[in-house]
This record gives sequence, structure tokens and C-alpha cells, in this order.
Amino acid sequence: MTDIACRPVGRTGLSVSELGFGAASLGNLYHPVPDADARAAIDAALDAGLRYVDTAPHYGRGLSERRVGDALRQRPGVAISTKVGRLMDPDASITDDAERDGFRSPMPFRMRYDYTYDGILRSHEHSLQRLGLSRVDLLYVHDIGRYTHGEAAAGYWEQLTTGGGLRALDRLRGEGAIAGFGIGVNEIGICLDVMREMPIDVILLAGRYTLLEQEALDALLPACAAADTSIVIGGPYNSGILATGTRKGGTLHYDYGPAPEAVVDKVCGIEDVADRHGVRLPAAALHFVLAHPCVASVIPGLGSAKRVAETASLYEEVIPQDFWRELQHEGLLRADAPVPASIEKVSV
Ligand SMILES: NC(=O)c1ccc[n+]([C@@H]2O[C@H](COP(=O)([O-])OP(=O)(O)OC[C@H]3O[C@@H](n4cnc5c(N)ncnc54)[C@H](OP(=O)(O)O)[C@@H]3O)[C@@H](O)[C@H]2O)c1
Repeated sequence: MTDIACRPVGRTGLSVSELGFGAASLGNLYHPVPDADARAAIDAALDAGLRYVDTAPHYGRGLSERRVGDALRQRPGVAISTKVGRLMDPDASITDDAERDGFRSPMPFRMRYDYTYDGILRSHEHSLQRLGLSRVDLLYVHDIGRYTHGEAAAGYWEQLTTGGGLRALDRLRGEGAIAGFGIGVNEIGICLDVMREMPIDVILLAGRYTLLEQEALDALLPACAAADTSIVIGGPYNSGILATGTRKGGTLHYDYGPAPEAVVDKVCGIEDVADRHGVRLPAAALHFVLAHPCVASVIPGLGSAKRVAETASLYEEVIPQDFWRELQHEGLLRADAPVPASIEKVSV
């Protein structure tokens, strides 16, 4: 078993392993994952010492939650987060596993956004039923903001604020049904908007604080430090390119689409520095984000036991200080970004 440290989540009293399991993959993201492989992936992760799993109703329209719950029911001591904001309505017209919203899931449901007081409470209840668990630890308001909703974002913001969505989460936390809540998004501005509305325990920030981009250092991370709001890093490989690198050919994935040329060029530059120091690119991607004191956990997408084993080995890689210095010197990493100080991991 890998020695994976745990870190606190805000002031919730909950701790999560600093390497966690992103379970979007288990909703059959882009390709079907057989049940046995999904189960083997979670079992391998727990055996490797991971103690935090993130899922969502959206991930395969309930499929990821079912698989995660079945695997964790007899495994105490693992923190679980799921998400609110999407309800699943039965839909008899769905009879295959054709790709819908990125997922190859056979689950016969159609997704409907609902960020209101009642919608949030109902989403929480439905998740417990699908998971087959009596409790989840953290709830994230999923994909609130313009990145997902475009022009419709203002209406959903109303649901969350005046419509009572945040109040419902505050109630669940107050009743002890959850340890804490926050939002799970791919954009920075909405995080600051929500933090101005109500103190939140944690933000699942996907793709916006990575080895490739550090704009979150300007306003968001200082605001989180001031408010004791933790960050969980989703999409640490920017959905692929920081894991695969650029040299193996094929389609390079960045933010769920083909990587733009400027991104490919930057990753090439980082790979050149990594080669000079004998560093594996995805290891650097994982270790970099963990150096920020606001970050509680990094949760790469893990779709198989093989990926889990690779990721545990990346986590154990020792990265020389000169690698980070050269990236900063070359302008490939912001000079004000905290970098891992030593091989010692933060423990609590
Ligand atoms: N709005 C939100 O709340 C939000 C948004 C995005 C993500 N998240 C969370 O963050 C988690 C991770 O995000 P993600 O899966 O979108 O992106 P990611 O972790 O940045 O990238 C996953 C991709 O990287 C590949 N990969 C992973 N490890 C690899 C390795 N060692 N070598 C080569 N390729 C590797 C995977 O390929 P394979 O598929 O072949 O394994 C997959 O295509 C999600 O599961 C979810 O929990 C949350």
C-alpha cells in the first residue's frame, strides 16, 4: 500500500486523502467500462491507500454512483462526495448506451437541471438511494455558471441563491447529514461569486489550476486561503494532455476537446524540461497542484486498476527541485506558484 497523506477539508472536521479517485470514468465517460473493471479500479484504489472518491449523478446518469456505492458499502473510512443540481427523470426512450453528454451509459434517465431548495434536497436523497449508502460527506453544486449554462446561467444562479439552493445545503450541513458543501466547476469567476454569497467549505475546481494554467493564483486561491475554503483539484491532466504528453501522436485532449496549438506548444516545452530532469509529465501534474496549501486533494480520472497502479507510482515519484526552478525560469510555470518544497508529504 502507498503511504498517502490525508489533509483537512476547510473547517468541516473531515479529512481526505491527498490523492483521490475521480469517478466520472466509472459512468462510462467516452467509452464503456465493464462492471468488473469498474469494481477492480475502486478496489485497487482502496488497496493502494486512496481514501476519497468523488462521483456525481451526471456521471453516466447514475451509473457511477451505483458502482461507487456498491464498492464502498463495506469499506468504512473513505470520504465520498457527490453533486447536486441535476435530477434524473426516467426516460423509456433510452434503450442503448449511445454516447449522451459524453457518457456511454445505458441508464434510462434524462437529466434536468434544478438548483432550487427542493431540487437540491431531492438530488441528495436520490443520490443516497442510488449509492445505497446512508450518507455522503461532501456535496458540490455541479456546473453552476456560464461555462455550462451560457446565457441560461443567470436563471440557475437565481435558483441557487434566492431560490434557496444554498439554504438547502446549509440545512443539510446544519442537521449533520453532510460534513460540508461547495461547488464543482470548471471556471473561476463563479467560485468567487458563490463565496461572496455564502461561506463554503470546499471547491472542486476542474482544469483551472494545473501545471498548464495558474490564473487561480490571482484572486481565487487568496480568497480561499482567507476564508478557509479548501480546493479539490479535478481534471489535473486538463482532461488528458498532461497525462499523455504530446509525443505519442493521436488526438491530444484538452478540456474535453482537441488541444489548441498554443496548449500543445506549452506542453511540448514542459516535456522538454521534464526529459532533462528525468521527470514523468503526469507525476509533475499531480505533485504541482498538491504544493498549494489550499489544496486538500487531487482527483485524477481513474477508469481501471491499471490506471490506479500507474497513478500510485506517479504519486511516489520524487521530483527534483531544479525541475520546478527551470520551468519557472523558462516562463512555463508562474514564478509565484508554490512548488513542492521537499519530498516530505504534508500530514495531519
Ligand atoms: N465540474 C466538476 O465538478 C468536475 C469537472 C471535471 C472533472 N471533475 C472531477 O475530476 C475527475 C477527473 O477529471 P477528468 O477525468 O475529467 O480529467 P483528468 O483526470 O484530467 O484526465 C483524465 C484523462 O487522462 C487519462 N489518464 C489518466 N491517467 C493517465 C495516465 N497515467 N496515463 C495516460 N493517460 C491517463 C485518462 O485516460 P483513460 O480514460 O484512458 O484512463 C482520461 O482520458 C473526474 O472524475 C471528476 O471526479 C469534476
